Amino acid sequence: MTVKPITWIGDETGLLRLLDQTRLPAETEWIDCRTATDVWRAIRTLQVRGAPAIGVSAAYGVVLGLQTVAEGDRAAFNRRLDEVCRELASSRPTAVNLFWALDRVRRVADVDCDASSGECLRRVWEEAKEIEAEDRRMCDAIGRHGAPLLAGLNGVLTHCNAGALATAGSGTALAVIVEAVRQGAPLCVYADETRPLWQGARLTAWELTQQNISCTVICDSMAGWVMRQGRVQAVVVGADRIAANGDTANKIGTYSVAQLAQAHGIPFYVAAPTSTFDLSLADGESIPIEERSREEVAAPQGKLLAPAAADVYNPAFDVTPASLIRGIITERGVISPVTADQVRQVVGAPREAASGHAGERSR
Ligand code: MRU
Repeated sequence: MTVKPITWIGDETGLLRLLDQTRLPAETEWIDCRTATDVWRAIRTLQVRGAPAIGVSAAYGVVLGLQTVAEGDRAAFNRRLDEVCRELASSRPTAVNLFWALDRVRRVADVDCDASSGECLRRVWEEAKEIEAEDRRMCDAIGRHGAPLLAGLNGVLTHCNAGALATAGSGTALAVIVEAVRQGAPLCVYADETRPLWQGARLTAWELTQQNISCTVICDSMAGWVMRQGRVQAVVVGADRIAANGDTANKIGTYSVAQLAQAHGIPFYVAAPTSTFDLSLADGESIPIEERSREEVAAPQGKLLAPAAADVYNPAFDVTPASLIRGIITERGVISPVTADQVRQVVGAPREAASGHAGERSR
């Protein structure tokens, strides 16, 4: 059984319960979100994190934000819908699943002008549930498509956390790894600790050990040596936004891992649902990269590690060029080679720009 970090309790008048990922692995604490602002805060502070999980939570956040206007007229409902979507879109800029999910729930509310506010709220809630259910199915399919790529290997490296904690289902990169193990691959998983917030050490290692999968945590700086020693024969990571040519934004440090994999002749795979593609961006150049606070780097968990006078640069993501990616594992199959043509064939024709692209954001 995998962990379920996101649970909606009740009907459209209900609440969103999230596993507080900032407390793991030491404590398993749940937080109840009753307003859109609660969800905004949970996303912003990484209590819920990982691209698909952010999208699902934001969709439910819209439901919470609309509950107060369910009895009012449609004009007030529509104004509130705008306000809530804008608020949630400002929580984090890089994961496109956030904007994709907001666009989806927005669209169902916009469809029928004659429906009552109460009816619209119900439709938004049903769409949020559908986004969650779809994500679960996509994770399972990603696992099935990706597992054969790891058959017979005994070591795989992953960066950050792209597991059940980061989705509404079994994960993306970890779904591939877990399914490969289930099919008999004798894998040991090397989990980069993933500074500055340790999603690898805290979350990936927690998830894998809960499932009795062999996991070894390494500092980020050890990845090259682990490859050189022949301990890993593949790398699988998740993604936050993938441009039309396959350039992929993921947790800071992913680009270095991809370069190292290339240097050691090790295949580097990205696992992501099609909701993580942003076909309105031709390449990775214009993917908005979140920058976070200096404290995360200079004073992790309140302990001062760098002098106050030193500047700190803290980009939360980087972009790995498509040329370094052997394949992108989606719920529709594996895109390989990773070219704009192959992406178009699997993911579909370019769609309109999702809100929240570079230059449009409210941060
Ligand atoms: O800052 P985070 O923890 O939200 O970053 C998460 C990642 O970079 C994941 O690898 C990505 O969202 C894919 S999760 C299936």
